[in-house]
Amino acid sequence: MVRGKRSGIAVVGFGYIGTVIGAVLADRGWPVTGVDVRQAVVDDINAGRTAVPEPGLGELVANSVGTGRLQATTDFAALGDNDFVIVTVGTPLGPDYEPIVDDIKAAARAVGTHLRAGHLVILKSTVPPDTTEKLVLPILEDASGLRAGVDFGLAFCPERLAEGQAIYELTSIPVVVGAVDERSARACAALWRHALGVESVVVDDPRTAEMVKLADNLWVDLNVALANELAKVCDRLGMDALQVIEAANTMPKGGRDANILRPSMGVGGYCLTKDPWFVNHLGESLGLQLAIPRTSRTVNDTMPAYTYGLLGQLLADQGKSVGDSKIAVLGIAFKNNTGDCRLTPTRYVLELLEASGCQLSVHDPWVPEDEAHTVTAVPLTPDIEATVKDADALVVLAGHRQFHQVPLVRLAELAAPGAIFLDGRNSFDPAAVRAAGFVYKGIGR
Ligand SMILES: NC(=O)c1ccc[n+]([C@@H]2O[C@H](COP(=O)([O-])OP(=O)(O)OC[C@H]3O[C@@H](n4cnc5c(N)ncnc54)[C@H](O)[C@@H]3O)[C@@H](O)[C@H]2O)c1
Repeated sequence: MVRGKRSGIAVVGFGYIGTVIGAVLADRGWPVTGVDVRQAVVDDINAGRTAVPEPGLGELVANSVGTGRLQATTDFAALGDNDFVIVTVGTPLGPDYEPIVDDIKAAARAVGTHLRAGHLVILKSTVPPDTTEKLVLPILEDASGLRAGVDFGLAFCPERLAEGQAIYELTSIPVVVGAVDERSARACAALWRHALGVESVVVDDPRTAEMVKLADNLWVDLNVALANELAKVCDRLGMDALQVIEAANTMPKGGRDANILRPSMGVGGYCLTKDPWFVNHLGESLGLQLAIPRTSRTVNDTMPAYTYGLLGQLLADQGKSVGDSKIAVLGIAFKNNTGDCRLTPTRYVLELLEASGCQLSVHDPWVPEDEAHTVTAVPLTPDIEATVKDADALVVLAGHRQFHQVPLVRLAELAAPGAIFLDGRNSFDPAAVRAAGFVYKGIGR
């Protein structure tokens, strides 16, 4: 039951997603308790800080902790004071490309131990179909002695926000709800409406909602793979892939316009690199050899080496080689406007650059030094101007907004004359880059 903002919300797993959800709910007036097994995370939150590098999140955490609406603990007994329990623990990829659900099991057992009648448990982690009903539900019932759909509510609601714009998306995209019974579904929909101001799309059951998340991410990965292969063709033809895609997307199909996404130097992060493999693994478990997940992953995984190859060609056109050049890399996070380096495709470009023997400088205002070590052995240069000084090539691997705040003419003045500007994220206007004096190249343009 939603008792308005008197209802407390516990968020179990206060990592990237948990912190965004918890901080937004607290900012909107709900009492939120983050529960995590990592003491350092809990200490950070209670000190009004978060290491999660999402735009605007630091302020939300500081304000909400300041007003007393957000707190964190490692003690699951805190669940007793809350009506809602949202579970957002991680589901990494195993060595055989299978989903690892160990944290889900551990969290379910701990939640079950402190469950009471009237609780609504909402799982948000990305999981294979049937996890909510066949894995989580029996653990909760066994640990609590209560019955799902009778004594407590249970639902799966996939998290579909994108890092970099997570706070906005959390309060703007509809939530898919798949619950074990109608009462749980209604309570979930009421919570999302009251708490986040978003509508729910209620599907038949948790397994359908679990499949929705996998379908969404398979679509994104495949769509980007399509854009990336179009970009490779356009590169060979000397054509602008973005112009092709923009015009192609005016075609109506199935009641809406085509929506081919944008090519880039690679796809990374915690979701798109694993969720297609979850689908592949699911297919195998059902005796199906699926082609799409493998294809999308394979195509997108070619892009870092492809981007490095473009750089080699551009330098060769100027009679230079990568190894003899000074290269300035801008952005190492896995996408624009985040500091998240988990499974970033930029690492593969940096590995190739480091192996080439080139003189390399690297800058990313979003990424802390200890995180940067997971991507490159080269220490970050804190200042963009020092990074690009005398560079033969600027290589943009994440198109952070800070890079757009420095005038392009200033960057061109600092770089070597006639320097190359390789935009791996197609985030700059080619005409403006050329007008500043660079030799421009994007992915597919
Ligand atoms: N990062 C994204 O953009 C994104 C988007 C949509 C969905 N998801 C999904 O959301 C889930 C969480 O992703 P994330 O990026 O926030 O992961 P994360 O690794 O940043 O956070 C997971 C947190 O859970 C904590 N944890 C682990 N075991 C626990 C337990 N037993 N009890 C309490 N806490 C525990 C960890 O300490 C960690 O802080 C994953 O299933 C992911 O696929 C992520």
